Amino acid sequence: MILGLETSCDETAAALVTDDARIVSNVVSSQAELHARYGGVVPEIASRRHLELVVPVVREALTEADASLDDVTRVAVTRGPGLIGALLVGLSAAKAIAWARRLPLIAVDHLHGHVASLFLEPDAAEPPFLCLLASGGHTLLLDVRDHSGFRVLGTTLDDAAGEAFDKGARLLGLGYPGGAEIDRLAREGDAEAYDFPVARVPGLDFSFSGLKTALLYKVRELPPEELATRRADLAASYQRAIVTALLGRTSEAAKQIGAERIAVVGGVAANSELRVGLPGAFLAPLPLCTDNAAMIASAGRFLEGIPYPRYLALDAYASLAA
Ligand code: KG4
Ligand code: ZN
Repeated sequence: MILGLETSCDETAAALVTDDARIVSNVVSSQAELHARYGGVVPEIASRRHLELVVPVVREALTEADASLDDVTRVAVTRGPGLIGALLVGLSAAKAIAWARRLPLIAVDHLHGHVASLFLEPDAAEPPFLCLLASGGHTLLLDVRDHSGFRVLGTTLDDAAGEAFDKGARLLGLGYPGGAEIDRLAREGDAEAYDFPVARVPGLDFSFSGLKTALLYKVRELPPEELATRRADLAASYQRAIVTALLGRTSEAAKQIGAERIAVVGGVAANSELRVGLPGAFLAPLPLCTDNAAMIASAGRFLEGIPYPRYLALDAYASLAA
C-alpha cells in the first residue's frame, strides 16, 4: 500500500491506497475552526497545528485500515505548492517514516494530486480529458493526456474561484470557509435577482477580483435590515456569476483542444450548481474534492519514487512548479 500525506494548507491528512487504486483509509483533520476567527488561514498557526496532528492522523489512517507500517511499500507526500511551513511538516514526517522503514519517497505536486482524485476506484476516470481545477488557492484549466501530469491552458489572473467564494461569504456575514455556506444559502435564493458580471480576460484565463468588489458595493448600498432578507438572493446571484464564468471558459477550452471529456476537481468541484452544470463530466467524488491524502497517494501511483535515502535533502516549494 501507498501511505499518502497532505499538509499544504489547513487540512492534516493521511491515507492508505492500494497499488490497484482502492482507498483503504482516508483521514482528514480540518483546522478550519481554528482559522475561522481570523477569516482565513494563518500560516504560522497552520504549521503548528500540523505538527501536533501529523502523527495522530497517520496512526489513525493505519488503525482505520487495520494495517501497520509493515504494510506500507511507498510514502507519497505533497511537496508543493502551498504554505511553505505547512508543507515542511508533512514532508519531514514523510521523510522520517520512509527513512526509518528504508522505503522510497514519492514527491507529489498538490495540483497533480487534485487531478488524481479522479483515478481512484470504484469509478476511476481515464485520460485524456480537459480538467477544471478550482480550489481555494487555484483556478486552472488543464490538458490531461495521461496519469502522470498535465499541461496548463489557463489560470486565474487574480483570485481563485474558491477564494472568490470565501471572500463573498465573508461580505455576506457567513462563516469560513464560505464556499459550502454560499452553496447552501444559494438554494433558497433567486440567482437572477442581481446581475454580477464576471470580467472577461483574453485567452483561457480567469479573473474574479472585480466580482467581489461588485458584491461589496451591493452590500454597502443595501440598508442593514434589507441585507438580511436579501442575503440568499445575493448568494445565489454571486454563485451564478462564478459558476457561469467557470463553465464558459471550460467549454471554450474544450472546443479549443478538441477535448471529448471534461473533468472537475478541487474544493469548488463540490459546488452543487457547478456539478449539475456539467452533465456527463467526470466529477471528483465529494469527499475527494477538498484537500485529502488519498488523492496524493493516487498521484503517487504514477510517479517514480526517490530511493532511500536520497530524499533527505528534498525541499518543499510554495508556488506553482515550473
Ligand atoms: O481544494 P481545497 O480544499 O483547498 C485548496 O487546495 O485550496 O479547496 C477549498 C476551497 C475553499 O475556498 C472552499 O470555500 C471551496 O473550496 N469550497 C466550495 C464548496 N466546498 C468547498 N466552493 C463552492 N461550493 C462548495 N460547495
Ligand atoms: Zn487543494
